Amino acid sequence: MLMTVQDFETAARRRLDPVHADFIAGGAGDEITVRANEEAFRRLRLLPRVLRGSAERSLDITVLGGRARTPVLLSPTAFHKLLDEEGELATARAAAAVGAIMIVSMASTVAVEDIAEATRGAGETADPAPLWFQLYLQPDLEFTRTLVRRATDAGCGALVVTVDSPVRGAHERDLRNGFLDLPDGLRCEHMAEPGEGGRVRPIAMSPEISWQHIDWLRGITSLPILLKGALHPEDARLAVRHGVDGLLLSNHGGRQLDTVPATIELLPEIHAAVAGRIPIVLDGGVRRGTDVVKALALGASAVGIGRPVMWALAEGGEKGVRRLLELLREEVDHALALCGASGVRDLTPDLVRAPVWPD
Ligand code: FNR
Repeated sequence: MLMTVQDFETAARRRLDPVHADFIAGGAGDEITVRANEEAFRRLRLLPRVLRGSAERSLDITVLGGRARTPVLLSPTAFHKLLDEEGELATARAAAAVGAIMIVSMASTVAVEDIAEATRGAGETADPAPLWFQLYLQPDLEFTRTLVRRATDAGCGALVVTVDSPVRGAHERDLRNGFLDLPDGLRCEHMAEPGEGGRVRPIAMSPEISWQHIDWLRGITSLPILLKGALHPEDARLAVRHGVDGLLLSNHGGRQLDTVPATIELLPEIHAAVAGRIPIVLDGGVRRGTDVVKALALGASAVGIGRPVMWALAEGGEKGVRRLLELLREEVDHALALCGASGVRDLTPDLVRAPVWPD
């Protein structure tokens, strides 16, 4: 029975081509940060309040103008058609059904216009959770501008700019497996030139991308911008100064620089650095409702999940992802009840205890 995120991982591994299983699970270098993300959540303890709960608990959140029925959103992950025939269409329908925000990866195997179309009417409310669009700023700014326009026209509610990838992370599992490209028949739709058989550009990771490019982006779009992958508190302060609207505190699931800290360990420091001026979404190692509660209590407005969505998609397609999102929602609700909270708003830092915590 699929009762936990761990169950989805185990079930997916039974089905997946081991090369694809490695692509999902793997990280950079020795995968120290991959493990650290989960271990850091496990080290934290919850300290509940008593005699103040309520029968009705709200898991609704609003972040950057986007309303969602769950604080768990789908972080951007590449290549969903590797895992399911329908790829991102299946993922997006499941997210819409549950009322979760989905961040569409620039490296998706379905175009953002088609994903947006698939989610119309898939949700249960008239006010569906938004799609956001993730991009790596390309040195070809005209091409980047086209992508921003496409995401905007498709109705995306925010842009998520990933800045932790001046060069590609060293994914040694993929290198050993020779998994360096998508199989024939699949492509990154956003990188394809229009028309049949058009050229597909490689996604450029460029060390020359700088704050000036963020300023440029700020100047060409009125959509909220989230910066994904800034970890240093000074960069968090700079983000605010450059007009960024939110942070996605992420170490790319341990897939870029190995040995960086777990994101949950950094959260208090980043929270202090931005001092409430912009919201923080956190991802990396979130596997349980209690992890979600810990992150929200320490100041995150929402949390993202990456690998669990891919496992659920591989295991059960659209239904699998829907079940995964529902079970995490149930776990969060259960943890809220046991913490004496009537909603995510009641979560405060005093509910979390850390055996070892930086000043
Ligand atoms: C990712 N991630 C990612 N991030 C991004 O900005 N653009 C992308 O295209 C991808 N693609 C991608 C593929 C795969 C297979 C994984 C596992 C991850 C990173 C992702 O958004 C997120 O930061 C992490 O996955 C969060 O950690 P967990 O939940 O996987 O532990």
